[in-house]
Amino acid sequence: MTEPHLRLGVNIDHVATVRNARGGAYPDPLRAARLAEEAGADGITAHLREDRRHISDADIEGLMGVLSVPLNFEMAATEEMQAIALRHRPHAVCIVPERREERTTEGGLEVAREENRLAHFIAPLREAGCRVSIFIAAEPAQVEAANRIGAQVIELHTGAYCDAHAEGRFSERDAELGRLREMSAFAHSLGLEVHAGHGLTYETTGPVAAFPEVRELNIGHFLIGEAIFRGLKPAIEEMRRVMDEARLQEGAA
Ligand code: PXP
Repeated sequence: MTEPHLRLGVNIDHVATVRNARGGAYPDPLRAARLAEEAGADGITAHLREDRRHISDADIEGLMGVLSVPLNFEMAATEEMQAIALRHRPHAVCIVPERREERTTEGGLEVAREENRLAHFIAPLREAGCRVSIFIAAEPAQVEAANRIGAQVIELHTGAYCDAHAEGRFSERDAELGRLREMSAFAHSLGLEVHAGHGLTYETTGPVAAFPEVRELNIGHFLIGEAIFRGLKPAIEEMRRVMDEARLQEGAA
């Protein structure tokens, strides 16, 4: 049965990217977060990277103080980040892979390869009351490993699906979408909550939003880019409409 309301987490990292291009305080990611809330975001997502290329420690502090919706704190599985998460105790943490040289989070976390370490890593976060999500590729071995280590949530990496769409490789796109659909159902059958995100646009969001098991989408770069042309609130409101429409059609099917 499809849960009618699909949550939208708005990732504000790239407001901070623009701010940091010049230094200083403008544009302010906290202002963007408040506007996103007004536009109907169900949560705010921010990734504090090891190199602090966009979101800063002060941004996380500020977000914890001003938000009335939950903060989804994205972080690498490092001791430094664990300590920061334990200090702030955000509603959710999403563990992502991180390499300094990458432009964005290029793949999912290799949970299956690091099961023991990750199980120990997330235990204190769970004990502190954070909902722990693991960002993974749509592969059965990763879903099973995420379940075994005690994560409550998996977030499926939609980047390969979105790239195939953008580059016109439509049969690959459809195959990726099929994998995402299958892994959503599989993860849900194991009792995991299913989220998805990375690279989603107005064109690519509908088919993922229609998966009945998906409870949350996290979307950032496209929305911040689109905000240049139509403003942040209308950009988010349009995404909300795309998601609701896909959900309604799925519910009616
Ligand atoms: N979900 C996760 C786990 C991410 O790391 C990111 C950002 O890299 C996103 C969602 C949002 O991706 P995008 O900014 O491409 O929409």
